[in-house]
Amino acid sequence: MAKKSVLIIGNLAREHALGWKLKQSSKVGKIYFAPGNVGTGFIGKNTGIDALDIKSLIQFAKTHDIYLTVAGPDNALAAGVVDAFKKEKMKIFGPTKDAAQIESSKVFSKQLMKEEGIPTATFKKFTDASKAKKYVLKQGLPIVIKASGLALGKGVVIAKTMDEATNIIDDILVKKVFGNAGDEIIIEEFLEGKEISIHAFCDGKTVSMFPVGRDHKAIFEGNRGPNTGGMGTLAPVPGFDTAFLEEIKRTIVLPALNGMKKKGIIFTGCLYPGLILTKHGPKVLEFNSRFGDPEMESYMRILETDIFDILEACADGTLSQLEIKWKKQTACCIVLASDGYPGAYKKGEIINGLEKYDGKNNIVVFHFGTKIENETIVTNGGRVLGITATGKTLDETLDKAYSAIGPHGIHFTGMQYRKDIGRV
Ligand code: AMP
Ligand code: GLY
Repeated sequence: MAKKSVLIIGNLAREHALGWKLKQSSKVGKIYFAPGNVGTGFIGKNTGIDALDIKSLIQFAKTHDIYLTVAGPDNALAAGVVDAFKKEKMKIFGPTKDAAQIESSKVFSKQLMKEEGIPTATFKKFTDASKAKKYVLKQGLPIVIKASGLALGKGVVIAKTMDEATNIIDDILVKKVFGNAGDEIIIEEFLEGKEISIHAFCDGKTVSMFPVGRDHKAIFEGNRGPNTGGMGTLAPVPGFDTAFLEEIKRTIVLPALNGMKKKGIIFTGCLYPGLILTKHGPKVLEFNSRFGDPEMESYMRILETDIFDILEACADGTLSQLEIKWKKQTACCIVLASDGYPGAYKKGEIINGLEKYDGKNNIVVFHFGTKIENETIVTNGGRVLGITATGKTLDETLDKAYSAIGPHGIHFTGMQYRKDIGRV
Protein backbone atom coordinates (compact mmCIF):
# COMPACT_ATOMS: atom_id res chain seq x y z
CA MET A 1 0.00 0.00 0.00
CA ALA A 2 1.31 3.43 -0.90
CA LYS A 3 2.45 5.47 2.06
CA LYS A 4 0.27 8.41 3.00
CA SER A 5 1.32 12.05 3.41
CA VAL A 6 0.22 13.86 6.57
CA LEU A 7 0.04 17.59 7.33
CA ILE A 8 0.29 18.66 10.97
CA ILE A 9 -0.88 22.18 11.79
CA GLY A 10 0.96 23.91 14.65
CA ASN A 11 4.41 24.79 15.92
CA LEU A 12 4.62 23.58 19.51
CA ALA A 13 6.46 20.65 21.08
CA ARG A 14 3.03 18.97 21.00
CA GLU A 15 3.15 18.89 17.20
CA HIS A 16 6.77 17.74 17.32
CA ALA A 17 5.74 14.84 19.58
CA LEU A 18 2.82 13.96 17.31
CA GLY A 19 5.11 14.00 14.27
CA TRP A 20 7.70 11.90 16.10
CA LYS A 21 5.08 9.23 16.76
CA LEU A 22 3.58 9.43 13.26
CA LYS A 23 7.00 8.90 11.73
CA GLN A 24 7.08 5.47 13.36
CA SER A 25 3.99 4.41 11.39
CA SER A 26 4.65 2.12 8.45
CA LYS A 27 1.64 3.71 6.73
CA VAL A 28 2.98 7.26 6.80
CA GLY A 29 5.28 8.69 4.14
CA LYS A 30 5.92 12.40 4.08
CA ILE A 31 5.10 14.52 7.12
CA TYR A 32 4.62 18.26 6.68
CA PHE A 33 4.19 20.88 9.38
CA ALA A 34 2.44 24.26 9.18
CA PRO A 35 4.34 26.27 10.18
CA GLY A 36 6.49 23.80 12.20
CA ASN A 37 9.57 24.48 14.33
CA VAL A 38 13.25 23.52 14.43
CA GLY A 39 12.46 20.13 15.95
CA THR A 40 9.75 19.24 13.44
CA GLY A 41 12.19 20.17 10.67
CA PHE A 42 14.34 17.18 11.71
CA ILE A 43 11.52 14.69 11.18
CA GLY A 44 9.53 16.19 8.32
CA LYS A 45 9.24 19.29 6.19
CA ASN A 46 8.27 22.66 7.58
CA THR A 47 6.00 24.56 5.22
CA GLY A 48 6.14 27.84 7.13
CA ILE A 49 2.39 28.30 6.50
CA ASP A 50 0.70 30.04 9.42
CA ALA A 51 -1.82 27.90 11.32
CA LEU A 52 -4.49 30.56 10.71
CA ASP A 53 -3.88 30.87 6.96
CA ILE A 54 -6.63 28.40 6.10
CA LYS A 55 -6.64 29.17 2.36
CA SER A 56 -2.94 28.38 2.02
CA LEU A 57 -3.30 25.24 4.16
CA ILE A 58 -5.99 23.90 1.84
CA GLN A 59 -4.01 24.85 -1.22
CA PHE A 60 -0.94 23.09 0.16
CA ALA A 61 -2.88 19.96 1.08
CA LYS A 62 -4.33 19.79 -2.43
CA THR A 63 -1.04 20.28 -4.24
CA HIS A 64 0.94 17.90 -1.99
CA ASP A 65 -1.45 14.97 -2.02
CA ILE A 66 -2.09 15.20 1.72
CA TYR A 67 -4.16 12.23 2.87
CA LEU A 68 -4.78 13.41 6.42
CA THR A 69 -4.42 16.76 8.18
CA VAL A 70 -4.18 17.12 11.96
CA ALA A 71 -5.29 20.43 13.43
CA GLY A 72 -3.41 21.21 16.64
CA PRO A 73 -3.88 24.79 17.83
CA ASP A 74 -7.03 26.10 19.51
CA ASN A 75 -7.12 29.30 17.47
CA ALA A 76 -7.01 27.42 14.16
CA LEU A 77 -9.92 25.25 15.31
CA ALA A 78 -11.85 28.32 16.45
CA ALA A 79 -11.16 29.92 13.07
CA GLY A 80 -12.86 26.97 11.35
CA VAL A 81 -9.92 25.13 9.79
CA VAL A 82 -11.72 21.78 10.16
CA ASP A 83 -14.92 23.12 8.58
CA ALA A 84 -12.92 24.46 5.62
CA PHE A 85 -11.16 21.11 5.01
CA LYS A 86 -14.42 19.19 5.36
CA LYS A 87 -16.10 21.48 2.86
CA GLU A 88 -13.40 20.48 0.38
CA LYS A 89 -13.98 16.81 1.28
CA MET A 90 -10.47 16.52 2.70
CA LYS A 91 -9.75 14.27 5.69
CA ILE A 92 -8.91 16.16 8.87
CA PHE A 93 -8.58 15.31 12.57
CA GLY A 94 -10.14 17.85 14.91
CA PRO A 95 -13.46 19.43 15.87
CA THR A 96 -15.44 21.89 13.77
CA LYS A 97 -15.67 25.54 14.79
CA ASP A 98 -19.02 24.91 16.51
CA ALA A 99 -17.66 21.95 18.45
CA ALA A 100 -14.45 23.82 19.35
CA GLN A 101 -16.64 26.34 21.19
CA ILE A 102 -16.34 24.03 24.16
CA GLU A 103 -12.87 25.59 24.51
CA SER A 104 -13.15 28.87 22.61
CA SER A 105 -16.17 30.10 24.62
CA LYS A 106 -16.14 29.60 28.36
CA VAL A 107 -19.73 30.90 28.41
CA PHE A 108 -20.69 28.07 26.01
CA SER A 109 -18.85 25.41 28.01
CA LYS A 110 -20.08 26.56 31.45
CA GLN A 111 -23.65 26.67 30.11
CA LEU A 112 -23.23 23.17 28.68
CA MET A 113 -21.90 21.87 32.00
CA LYS A 114 -24.86 23.41 33.81
CA GLU A 115 -27.37 21.91 31.37
CA GLU A 116 -25.82 18.45 31.58
CA GLY A 117 -25.12 18.42 35.31
CA ILE A 118 -21.36 18.13 34.82
CA PRO A 119 -19.58 18.95 38.09
CA THR A 120 -17.88 22.36 37.87
CA ALA A 121 -17.42 25.56 39.88
CA THR A 122 -20.61 27.61 40.35
CA PHE A 123 -20.49 30.67 38.10
CA LYS A 124 -22.18 33.69 36.61
CA LYS A 125 -21.47 35.48 33.33
CA PHE A 126 -21.14 39.25 32.93
CA THR A 127 -20.72 41.88 30.22
CA ASP A 128 -21.10 44.84 32.58
CA ALA A 129 -18.09 45.72 34.78
CA SER A 130 -19.99 47.35 37.65
CA LYS A 131 -22.41 44.41 37.95
CA ALA A 132 -19.43 42.07 37.92
CA LYS A 133 -17.73 43.98 40.75
CA LYS A 134 -20.91 43.98 42.84
CA TYR A 135 -21.14 40.22 42.38
CA VAL A 136 -17.54 39.77 43.59
CA LEU A 137 -18.30 41.87 46.69
CA LYS A 138 -21.30 39.65 47.44
CA GLN A 139 -19.47 36.35 46.83
CA GLY A 140 -16.25 37.14 48.68
CA LEU A 141 -12.63 36.27 47.95
CA PRO A 142 -10.69 34.48 46.57
CA ILE A 143 -12.68 34.28 43.36
CA VAL A 144 -11.83 33.31 39.79
CA ILE A 145 -12.33 35.66 36.85
CA LYS A 146 -12.08 34.38 33.29
CA ALA A 147 -12.31 35.98 29.86
CA SER A 148 -14.82 33.90 27.90
CA GLY A 149 -12.76 33.66 24.70
CA LEU A 150 -9.28 32.42 23.82
CA ALA A 151 -6.65 34.58 25.51
CA LEU A 152 -3.38 32.69 24.96
CA GLY A 153 -3.74 31.04 28.36
CA LYS A 154 -3.66 34.43 30.10
CA GLY A 155 -7.38 35.01 30.51
CA VAL A 156 -7.78 33.43 33.96
CA VAL A 157 -7.06 35.29 37.20
CA ILE A 158 -7.50 34.07 40.74
CA ALA A 159 -8.28 37.32 42.58
CA LYS A 160 -7.27 37.34 46.24
CA THR A 161 -8.07 41.00 46.89
CA MET A 162 -10.85 43.30 45.74
CA ASP A 163 -8.24 45.47 43.99
CA GLU A 164 -7.05 42.51 41.94
CA ALA A 165 -10.64 41.61 41.04
CA THR A 166 -11.51 45.21 40.08
CA ASN A 167 -8.38 45.54 37.96
CA ILE A 168 -8.89 42.36 35.99
CA ILE A 169 -12.60 43.06 35.42
CA ASP A 170 -11.69 46.52 34.07
CA ASP A 171 -8.82 45.12 32.01
CA ILE A 172 -11.04 42.57 30.31
CA LEU A 173 -14.43 44.31 30.02
CA VAL A 174 -13.44 48.00 29.80
CA LYS A 175 -9.87 48.20 28.49
CA LYS A 176 -10.41 45.12 26.30
CA VAL A 177 -6.90 43.78 26.80
CA PHE A 178 -7.99 40.48 25.24
CA GLY A 179 -10.06 42.16 22.49
CA ASN A 180 -13.29 40.35 21.61
CA ALA A 181 -12.21 37.36 23.71
CA GLY A 182 -13.16 39.56 26.66
CA ASP A 183 -16.63 40.68 25.53
CA GLU A 184 -17.98 38.45 28.28
CA ILE A 185 -16.45 37.18 31.49
CA ILE A 186 -17.17 34.28 33.79
CA ILE A 187 -16.83 34.77 37.52
CA GLU A 188 -16.62 31.49 39.35
CA GLU A 189 -16.13 29.85 42.68
CA PHE A 190 -12.51 29.22 43.71
CA LEU A 191 -11.82 25.49 43.99
CA GLU A 192 -8.99 23.74 45.77
CA GLY A 193 -7.33 20.45 44.96
CA LYS A 194 -4.79 18.72 42.75
CA GLU A 195 -5.28 19.02 39.02
CA ILE A 196 -5.28 16.26 36.41
CA SER A 197 -5.58 16.25 32.64
CA ILE A 198 -8.08 13.96 30.97
CA HIS A 199 -7.87 13.28 27.24
CA ALA A 200 -10.32 11.32 25.10
CA PHE A 201 -10.16 10.40 21.42
CA CYS A 202 -13.63 10.98 19.94
CA ASP A 203 -15.04 10.03 16.54
CA GLY A 204 -18.57 11.31 17.07
CA LYS A 205 -19.85 7.95 18.38
CA THR A 206 -17.08 6.20 20.28
CA VAL A 207 -14.78 7.52 22.99
CA SER A 208 -11.37 6.17 23.99
CA MET A 209 -9.80 7.50 27.16
CA PHE A 210 -6.06 8.21 27.54
CA PRO A 211 -4.37 7.36 30.85
CA VAL A 212 -4.69 10.13 33.45
CA GLY A 213 -2.08 12.87 32.95
CA ARG A 214 -0.83 15.77 35.00
CA ASP A 215 0.46 19.12 33.80
CA HIS A 216 2.39 21.35 36.20
CA LYS A 217 1.29 24.81 35.14
CA ALA A 218 2.87 27.06 37.76
CA ILE A 219 6.37 28.38 37.05
CA PHE A 220 7.89 27.56 40.45
CA GLU A 221 8.30 24.39 42.47
CA GLY A 222 5.51 23.55 44.90
CA ASN A 223 3.03 24.89 42.30
CA ARG A 224 3.86 28.47 43.24
CA GLY A 225 4.01 31.55 41.05
CA PRO A 226 2.12 32.55 37.95
CA ASN A 227 0.74 29.97 35.55
CA THR A 228 2.61 29.16 32.34
CA GLY A 229 1.77 27.17 29.23
CA GLY A 230 2.91 24.12 31.23
CA MET A 231 6.28 23.33 32.88
CA GLY A 232 6.12 19.55 32.71
CA THR A 233 3.90 16.50 32.60
CA LEU A 234 3.55 12.99 33.87
CA ALA A 235 1.48 10.10 32.48
CA PRO A 236 -0.01 7.99 33.82
CA VAL A 237 -0.41 9.66 37.21
CA PRO A 238 -0.21 6.97 39.92
CA GLY A 239 -3.32 6.20 41.93
CA PHE A 240 -6.02 6.27 39.24
CA ASP A 241 -7.47 2.98 38.08
CA THR A 242 -9.66 2.11 35.10
CA ALA A 243 -12.76 2.43 37.29
CA PHE A 244 -11.85 6.09 37.92
CA LEU A 245 -11.45 6.71 34.18
CA GLU A 246 -14.78 4.99 33.49
CA GLU A 247 -16.44 7.24 36.05
CA ILE A 248 -14.92 10.37 34.46
CA LYS A 249 -16.09 9.13 31.07
CA ARG A 250 -19.62 8.54 32.39
CA THR A 251 -20.01 11.77 34.38
CA ILE A 252 -17.96 14.27 32.37
CA VAL A 253 -16.88 13.22 28.87
CA LEU A 254 -20.06 11.54 27.62
CA PRO A 255 -22.43 14.18 29.09
CA ALA A 256 -20.39 16.91 27.35
CA LEU A 257 -20.49 15.07 24.01
CA ASN A 258 -24.19 14.23 24.36
CA GLY A 259 -25.02 17.77 25.44
CA MET A 260 -23.41 19.10 22.28
CA LYS A 261 -25.21 16.46 20.21
CA LYS A 262 -28.52 17.83 21.54
CA LYS A 263 -27.50 21.17 20.03
CA GLY A 264 -26.73 19.47 16.71
CA ILE A 265 -22.98 19.59 17.27
CA ILE A 266 -20.92 16.44 16.75
CA PHE A 267 -17.51 16.61 18.41
CA THR A 268 -14.65 14.69 16.80
CA GLY A 269 -10.96 14.90 17.68
CA CYS A 270 -9.54 15.08 21.18
CA LEU A 271 -11.64 16.30 24.09
CA TYR A 272 -9.44 17.38 26.97
CA PRO A 273 -11.14 18.36 30.21
CA GLY A 274 -8.89 19.85 32.86
CA LEU A 275 -10.09 18.59 36.25
CA ILE A 276 -9.51 19.61 39.84
CA LEU A 277 -9.89 16.94 42.53
CA THR A 278 -11.85 18.72 45.26
CA LYS A 279 -12.98 17.20 48.52
CA HIS A 280 -16.43 17.01 46.92
CA GLY A 281 -15.06 15.00 43.99
CA PRO A 282 -13.57 15.82 40.57
CA LYS A 283 -14.79 19.06 38.97
CA VAL A 284 -14.14 20.48 35.51
CA LEU A 285 -12.00 23.65 35.38
CA GLU A 286 -12.19 23.88 31.62
CA PHE A 287 -12.71 21.89 28.46
CA ASN A 288 -10.13 21.97 25.70
CA SER A 289 -10.93 20.81 22.19
CA ARG A 290 -7.43 19.60 21.29
CA PHE A 291 -4.38 17.76 22.59
CA GLY A 292 -2.72 19.23 25.67
CA ASP A 293 0.77 20.60 25.59
CA PRO A 294 3.05 19.41 27.25
CA GLU A 295 0.76 16.42 27.93
CA MET A 296 1.21 15.09 24.37
CA GLU A 297 4.97 14.95 24.81
CA SER A 298 4.48 12.36 27.59
CA TYR A 299 1.51 10.61 26.00
CA MET A 300 3.23 9.97 22.67
CA ARG A 301 6.08 8.23 24.50
CA ILE A 302 3.74 5.59 25.96
CA LEU A 303 1.17 5.16 23.20
CA GLU A 304 1.58 1.71 21.69
CA THR A 305 -0.99 1.80 18.90
CA ASP A 306 -0.14 3.41 15.56
CA ILE A 307 -1.25 7.06 15.95
CA PHE A 308 -2.03 7.24 12.23
CA ASP A 309 -4.71 4.55 12.64
CA ILE A 310 -6.22 6.44 15.59
CA LEU A 311 -6.28 9.83 13.90
CA GLU A 312 -7.81 8.33 10.76
CA ALA A 313 -10.42 6.39 12.77
CA CYS A 314 -11.45 9.59 14.59
CA ALA A 315 -11.79 11.44 11.29
CA ASP A 316 -13.70 8.54 9.66
CA GLY A 317 -15.95 7.60 12.60
CA THR A 318 -14.50 4.08 12.88
CA LEU A 319 -12.93 4.27 16.34
CA SER A 320 -15.07 1.36 17.62
CA GLN A 321 -13.11 -0.97 15.32
CA LEU A 322 -9.78 -0.04 16.89
CA GLU A 323 -8.31 -1.18 20.17
CA ILE A 324 -6.02 1.54 21.50
CA LYS A 325 -3.15 0.23 23.59
CA TRP A 326 -0.82 2.08 25.97
CA LYS A 327 2.56 0.75 27.07
CA LYS A 328 2.84 -0.36 30.68
CA GLN A 329 5.33 2.41 31.32
CA THR A 330 5.46 5.88 32.78
CA ALA A 331 6.50 8.95 30.78
CA CYS A 332 7.44 12.44 31.83
CA CYS A 333 8.28 15.71 30.14
CA ILE A 334 10.43 18.36 31.81
CA VAL A 335 10.16 21.78 30.20
CA LEU A 336 13.30 23.92 29.97
CA ALA A 337 12.38 27.60 29.93
CA SER A 338 14.23 30.87 29.44
CA ASP A 339 15.17 33.09 32.36
CA GLY A 340 12.27 35.46 33.08
CA TYR A 341 9.53 33.31 31.56
CA PRO A 342 6.49 33.64 31.83
CA GLY A 343 7.44 37.33 31.86
CA ALA A 344 9.96 38.97 29.51
CA TYR A 345 12.90 36.75 28.55
CA LYS A 346 16.07 36.82 26.49
CA LYS A 347 16.46 34.90 23.24
CA GLY A 348 19.50 33.62 21.36
CA GLU A 349 21.24 31.61 24.11
CA ILE A 350 23.24 28.69 22.73
CA ILE A 351 21.76 25.31 23.72
CA ASN A 352 24.51 22.86 24.72
CA GLY A 353 24.38 19.08 24.87
CA LEU A 354 21.57 18.36 22.40
CA GLU A 355 23.78 16.07 20.31
CA LYS A 356 24.07 13.66 23.26
CA TYR A 357 20.35 12.88 23.25
CA ASP A 358 19.35 12.34 19.65
CA GLY A 359 16.79 9.73 20.68
CA LYS A 360 19.51 7.93 22.64
CA ASN A 361 19.38 6.72 26.25
CA ASN A 362 15.58 6.70 26.07
CA ILE A 363 15.59 10.51 26.09
CA VAL A 364 13.59 12.25 23.38
CA VAL A 365 13.79 16.03 23.16
CA PHE A 366 10.86 17.98 21.71
CA HIS A 367 11.24 21.60 20.62
CA PHE A 368 9.16 24.64 21.54
CA GLY A 369 10.97 27.93 20.88
CA THR A 370 14.34 27.30 19.27
CA LYS A 371 16.13 28.69 16.24
CA ILE A 372 19.14 27.76 14.14
CA GLU A 373 21.74 30.53 14.07
CA ASN A 374 25.12 29.95 12.41
CA GLU A 375 24.42 26.21 12.39
CA THR A 376 23.87 26.26 16.16
CA ILE A 377 20.54 25.71 17.94
CA VAL A 378 19.73 28.67 20.17
CA THR A 379 16.78 29.61 22.41
CA ASN A 380 13.95 31.50 20.72
CA GLY A 381 11.02 31.42 23.13
CA GLY A 382 9.83 31.35 26.72
CA ARG A 383 9.50 27.60 26.75
CA VAL A 384 12.42 26.16 24.83
CA LEU A 385 12.55 22.35 25.01
CA GLY A 386 10.60 19.42 26.46
CA ILE A 387 12.88 16.65 27.74
CA THR A 388 11.01 13.33 27.82
CA ALA A 389 11.87 9.93 29.22
CA THR A 390 10.06 6.68 29.92
CA GLY A 391 10.61 4.02 32.56
CA LYS A 392 9.04 1.14 34.43
CA THR A 393 8.60 3.18 37.60
CA LEU A 394 8.01 6.81 38.45
CA ASP A 395 11.48 7.17 40.01
CA GLU A 396 13.25 5.56 37.07
CA THR A 397 11.40 7.79 34.61
CA LEU A 398 12.02 11.05 36.44
CA ASP A 399 15.66 10.20 37.25
CA LYS A 400 16.32 9.45 33.60
CA ALA A 401 14.77 12.72 32.36
CA TYR A 402 16.53 14.85 34.96
CA SER A 403 19.88 13.14 34.26
CA ALA A 404 19.76 14.65 30.77
CA ILE A 405 19.49 18.19 32.12
CA GLY A 406 22.34 20.29 33.52
CA PRO A 407 26.03 20.96 33.01
CA HIS A 408 26.72 17.40 31.80
CA GLY A 409 23.60 17.24 29.68
CA ILE A 410 21.37 19.79 27.99
CA HIS A 411 21.76 23.35 29.27
CA PHE A 412 21.80 27.01 28.30
CA THR A 413 22.47 30.27 30.08
CA GLY A 414 19.51 31.34 32.20
CA MET A 415 17.79 27.94 31.88
CA GLN A 416 15.02 27.41 34.42
CA TYR A 417 13.03 24.25 35.03
CA ARG A 418 11.06 22.68 37.85
CA LYS A 419 12.76 19.91 39.78
CA ASP A 420 9.51 18.54 41.22
CA ILE A 421 7.68 17.49 38.05
CA GLY A 422 5.73 14.31 38.73
CA ARG A 423 6.24 14.66 42.46
CA VAL A 424 3.61 17.21 43.49
P1 AMP B 1 -8.55 27.32 32.85
O1 AMP B 1 -7.92 27.90 31.61
O2 AMP B 1 -9.97 27.71 33.02
O3 AMP B 1 -8.30 25.86 33.04
O4 AMP B 1 -7.73 27.94 34.07
C1 AMP B 1 -6.32 27.89 34.10
C2 AMP B 1 -5.85 27.51 35.50
O5 AMP B 1 -6.40 28.40 36.47
C3 AMP B 1 -6.31 26.13 35.94
O6 AMP B 1 -5.45 25.12 35.50
C4 AMP B 1 -6.29 26.28 37.45
O7 AMP B 1 -4.97 26.13 37.96
C5 AMP B 1 -6.73 27.71 37.65
N1 AMP B 1 -8.20 27.77 37.86
C6 AMP B 1 -9.14 27.92 36.91
N2 AMP B 1 -10.38 27.91 37.44
C7 AMP B 1 -10.23 27.76 38.77
C8 AMP B 1 -11.13 27.66 39.88
N3 AMP B 1 -12.45 27.76 39.72
N4 AMP B 1 -10.60 27.49 41.11
C9 AMP B 1 -9.27 27.41 41.29
N5 AMP B 1 -8.37 27.49 40.29
C10 AMP B 1 -8.83 27.66 39.04
N1 GLY C 1 -1.60 21.71 29.25
C1 GLY C 1 -2.25 22.95 29.08
C2 GLY C 1 -2.89 23.10 27.80
O1 GLY C 1 -2.60 22.43 26.83
O2 GLY C 1 -3.79 23.95 27.70
